[in-house]
Amino acid sequence: MAEGTDKRTIQPAKRLKGEITLPGDKSISHRAIILGSIAKGTTHITNLLSGEDCQATQNAFSAMGVGIRADGNSLLIEGDGPTALKSPKKNLFLGNSGTTMRLISGILSAQPFETVLEGDPSLSARPMKRIIEPLRLMGADVTALSEGNRPPLKIKGAHLKSIDYTMNIPSAQVKSAILLAGLYARGMTKVTEPLKSRDHTERIFGQFGVKVIVDDLTAAIEGGQVPKAKEVFIPGDISSAAFFIVAALLIKGSHIKIKDVGCNPTRTGFIDALKSIGARIKIKEKRSDFEPLCDMEVEGCRLEGDLTIEGDLLVRSIDEMPILMVAASLNKGKTIIKGAGELRVKETDRISSMAENLKCMGADLKVDGDDIIIKGVESLTSARLKSFGDHRTAMAMTIAALTAKDESILFDTACINTSFPQFSHILTSIST
Ligand code: S3P
Repeated sequence: MAEGTDKRTIQPAKRLKGEITLPGDKSISHRAIILGSIAKGTTHITNLLSGEDCQATQNAFSAMGVGIRADGNSLLIEGDGPTALKSPKKNLFLGNSGTTMRLISGILSAQPFETVLEGDPSLSARPMKRIIEPLRLMGADVTALSEGNRPPLKIKGAHLKSIDYTMNIPSAQVKSAILLAGLYARGMTKVTEPLKSRDHTERIFGQFGVKVIVDDLTAAIEGGQVPKAKEVFIPGDISSAAFFIVAALLIKGSHIKIKDVGCNPTRTGFIDALKSIGARIKIKEKRSDFEPLCDMEVEGCRLEGDLTIEGDLLVRSIDEMPILMVAASLNKGKTIIKGAGELRVKETDRISSMAENLKCMGADLKVDGDDIIIKGVESLTSARLKSFGDHRTAMAMTIAALTAKDESILFDTACINTSFPQFSHILTSIST
């Protein structure tokens, strides 16, 4: 990929100190906008993420006639129920956001109009068979307009029937598309996954008064329920916190506090992994509304020990793999990440993007199919780095660069705005 013009120079960090709060969780922000848009009444969302991905979700529902008004980082949504959406005047452009495309496909499958969903080049390369298959089984008319079941997606709404579906990959986006379609289907829709993916959809449905029955790996929803508008506070994004947590661990003498961050157990795999190799992370659970919330405290320390990340632990830390690969590169021990093929179909192929960058910095890293083997080195060296247009690769490599002795250059950083526009500002605020 060509090096973009939006490059950043990253100086080594001395240490990180201070207290931060983070913008709202991206996954939960999407779901709050979606539920608010199909609920009856006025939903008030606070601490919403203002990134481009969530803006794409907001724009999609505005284009379908939902009254949405921003007020700082709060949002007011005037919903008129699940069947009040209107046909958008043009194709819906969803930017980089796979979550938006996959989740709203479930809703659009049941509307009395046709929609076409488009994305940027990264989203246009992402696999959609995983949602097309179950939605078609429910009776939806969904067609991928590019070869290999890639977007754009053309969706013609239909009267949906319920299904009992077993997924072959753990995916919260697929599970959510099915549950959202299930809200419109006749009868009880059931979805079972091989391992538990993030359960934000199940939880937020409950918050909006929609009953979802969860039994281990199966979630079930009875069609015809009407979500009721709610006050929703979005916890700080634990995936954004991960960058500062690893930075504070790796940079000697650091000590940071992160307030009001989400700690849903389906998202905290990376904390378990880091703690198993000696990370000093203290978690103080505060309360559990529909999502658990906590304060965290992190201190710089030596990471030491062998670590294997696979199965459930991998699913619970899937978005943190780029930054965990940075931590593993400086862990005194061997880290094996097994069966991480899903990383190849994220915003970019994150196995390749991270391996290429970390090797440039002198990491001892081998890729064997979808497995990654990393032996820790004493230090990483400064380098010219590339984001590959992927926000999490960009932020992970920013943190890697902070640990080097000399300045590094990172190209193509605008992508950070998709999930965390405040990243640099918050990082600066705790850099001494
Ligand atoms: C997400 C689910 C995950 C994650 C993505 C956000 C969601 O993908 O990687 O960034 O909000 O549902 P899967 O669908 O693979 O679980």
